[in-house]
Amino acid sequence: MYEFLTFDVADRIATITVNRPDKLNALNDATIAELGRAIDEANARADVAAVLLTGAGRSFIAGADISELESQSPLEAQRRARVGQAIFRRFETSPKPTVAAINGFALGGGCELAMACHVRLASDKAKLGQPEVKLGIVPGYGGTQRLPRLVGRGAALRLLLTGDMIDAAEALRLGLVDQVVAPEALLDTARTLLTTMAANAPLALAGCIEAVNRGQDVPLEEGCTIESDFFGLLSATADMKEGMRAFLEKRAATFIGR
Ligand code: COA
Repeated sequence: MYEFLTFDVADRIATITVNRPDKLNALNDATIAELGRAIDEANARADVAAVLLTGAGRSFIAGADISELESQSPLEAQRRARVGQAIFRRFETSPKPTVAAINGFALGGGCELAMACHVRLASDKAKLGQPEVKLGIVPGYGGTQRLPRLVGRGAALRLLLTGDMIDAAEALRLGLVDQVVAPEALLDTARTLLTTMAANAPLALAGCIEAVNRGQDVPLEEGCTIESDFFGLLSATADMKEGMRAFLEKRAATFIGR
């Protein structure tokens, strides 16, 4: 079903592993298309509550596949960027939490896809960067837009204009990743985080994600209106009643996603 990635479900967590280790998991067009199918599959499946994205071998994703970019015409390049941007956006707008477990190189499109995930964990061996300027291009999968939003304009422009790779400790300092752990602890840490998230009310998770996404680039007042609408809507759910009743009865809540 997938040629360039694996898709496994266990304990309500879908693990998507980009699997071209001999090419350091570089994203050819076919892999990008499969990532789109994989996030759609995770969101469609009732047995999946959260999504873990990682890479096979020593790399997370070493960027777009340069062998495909080399011969692109301007219009092909523009289309490639738009297709990839739309697929990465599906990770960002996924109603189920997405966590990138950055096990190695997250360069170019790899850094961009990690930034489109909701949370980023990194192994202390990870290296991140946007090296596109070394190839004569700009990032095409949202890097010029998400990087300054995550780390601020100065740090983003430093990374974009130098093309330098940074290590996990510096990525943590900048806020490009949220936590750094030993390589052997990476997947377990990601699964523990996702399990914590997945125990919460699914519609509340989706509401937080959508409120953050839709509120990010609008005036605060408008963002707060988006938030209060979700706050109101969720009060119509059985899970809201269950969550509050469970608290008052001093027991764990059982959520049903309605
Ligand atoms: N596109 C296509 N192939 C890539 C790739 C990419 N982005 N990144 C790595 N590969 C391939 C290499 O060509 C090599 O293939 P080969 O064995 O058939 O020659 C294989 O993956 C291993 O990479 P290699 O360069 O030998 O490993 P390394 O440990 O010496 O260096 C990197 C690792 C990540 C520093 C280096 O591969 C690199 O700079 N990659 C490109 C990063 C980049 O510019 N990404 C943005 C693209 S827009």
